[in-house]
Amino acid sequence: MKVGDRRQIVVAADAEALARLAAQRLIARIELHRERPAICLTGGSGPQRMFELLATEFADRIPWARVHWFISDERFVPFDDPLSNMGTIRRVLLDGRAPPDNIHAIPAGDSASPDEAAQRCERDLQTFYGATALDPARPLFDLVLGGVGPDGHTASLFPGWPQLEVTDRWAAGVDTAHVAPFVPRITLTFPALASCSEMLFLVHGAAKREIVGRIFAGADLPAGRARSNGETTWLITEDALPEAVRDR
Ligand code: 6PG
Repeated sequence: MKVGDRRQIVVAADAEALARLAAQRLIARIELHRERPAICLTGGSGPQRMFELLATEFADRIPWARVHWFISDERFVPFDDPLSNMGTIRRVLLDGRAPPDNIHAIPAGDSASPDEAAQRCERDLQTFYGATALDPARPLFDLVLGGVGPDGHTASLFPGWPQLEVTDRWAAGVDTAHVAPFVPRITLTFPALASCSEMLFLVHGAAKREIVGRIFAGADLPAGRARSNGETTWLITEDALPEAVRDR
């Protein structure tokens, strides 16, 4: 389903179907990039089943030595804290499969402040990219995964927060979260997230129906603003899809 604003909606029957479709799209993006694919993962519940599938039945389809893994946002907690996004993904998916040098965690666990962690994250991204300015013709990431929070946030870009307006940095510190868990965060900014071949939102569960409806009705919320310079797809389960969006 095309929604007329450069976004596409793909409907999955349920959370299991969504996880399988997402895993297949992630692998397809890796296959399109013959050298050094860059995948930007996300925290939250949305991708957890996909991570399990990638670690098990899809594991043989990933050229682990070549793929580099990033994260769209991080909580300012130690690496082994259960709230750490990359810590969780390492345990479920990356550890023992991805070479350690290919795992680009945001350095929340050993930075003095969210801003310092954001600066170190930006330097790591720029070293990987090989430039300090993003070239629209050369995406930073092959795939950026996203989710939507109950308040319409994505990554740690919260409604009304100043990080939404940051256009000259690739990552930013966020001193106060807008929703639980109320720990400081580090987030990639809109321009860094947009520099991808595909941005793929994963949304499941009836609790998401209202916020999805608001976003596609045009509310100015971060998850609605987030767009890839390439393709932007929302992968939504039947139970999270509002009637008004289905009928578009
Ligand atoms: C985080 C996430 C966040 C998440 C949304 C949706 O660190 O919390 O990166 O942006 O994607 O809150 O989360 P769910 O998938 O759990 O609804």
